[in-house]
Amino acid sequence: MSHEPTASDSPPMTPDRLKEMKAQGEKIAVLTAYDYPTARLFDESGIDVILVGDSLGMVVLGYPDTTHVTIDEMVHHVGAAARGVKRALVVGDLPFASYTMPKQAVVNARRLMDAGAHAVKLEGGRDQCDQIEEIIADGIPVMAHLGMLPQSVKMEGGYKIKGKTPAEVEKLLEDARAVQEAGAFAVVLELVRSEVSAQISTTLSIPTIGIGSGADCDGQVLVSHDLIGLFPWFTPKFVKPHGHVAEQIRASAAAFIADTKHPGSRA
Ligand code: KIV
Repeated sequence: MSHEPTASDSPPMTPDRLKEMKAQGEKIAVLTAYDYPTARLFDESGIDVILVGDSLGMVVLGYPDTTHVTIDEMVHHVGAAARGVKRALVVGDLPFASYTMPKQAVVNARRLMDAGAHAVKLEGGRDQCDQIEEIIADGIPVMAHLGMLPQSVKMEGGYKIKGKTPAEVEKLLEDARAVQEAGAFAVVLELVRSEVSAQISTTLSIPTIGIGSGADCDGQVLVSHDLIGLFPWFTPKFVKPHGHVAEQIRASAAAFIADTKHPGSRA
């Protein structure tokens, strides 16, 4: 079988390469994937980072929020996605309550790495620096996550934009400096006011990856189901879908049902 060259034939992405991209002003593209075919398609398209996010819980497993996702579920899906990837950096999310203590964080980060991740992500700032340092001491690269933290949705009482008050801005900047100091190689900024994420991006030497946080981050991440229109029951306001996959699935199912129930009726 002939092998057409694809984007996944170029050298593998690394945390250091992502930092170089920021230094050179090259934007970083990140998408979530939770299974083999989607991860492989994104990798072949040239995506820089594949995040096996715990958004898995909402867009694939049907939970009401991400706090229900278990480490076993993450390990299962990290393995599936990683098997489809040749070039992109695969980042596995540590789910809710899997990194409460530093030693527990290392054990669970190691499970994601053994499943095929190249790095892990966790939510939080200064409060997570012991975990970040301990995971890195075990040789595992860490991506941090600040701003709106989906795993804290129950404590926060909803998904709220961050960086609205001077105190929130100060806290975000302090947390961003703290995770960089602790050794994180990048930081996701979720639902952070765009002026504030721009300020964080110029303050840090590590890349910021924004979601609903304006255009001035060093990269952008989207939940792939939102990008391709595969979760039609809810689309965040900041997403402009580039596909309508749910409609194609419905149309294909309707055609199959019609073919089965009324054979020969299709022209
Ligand atoms: O779980 C996830 O998909 C994420 C992104 C929204 C950044 O954390």
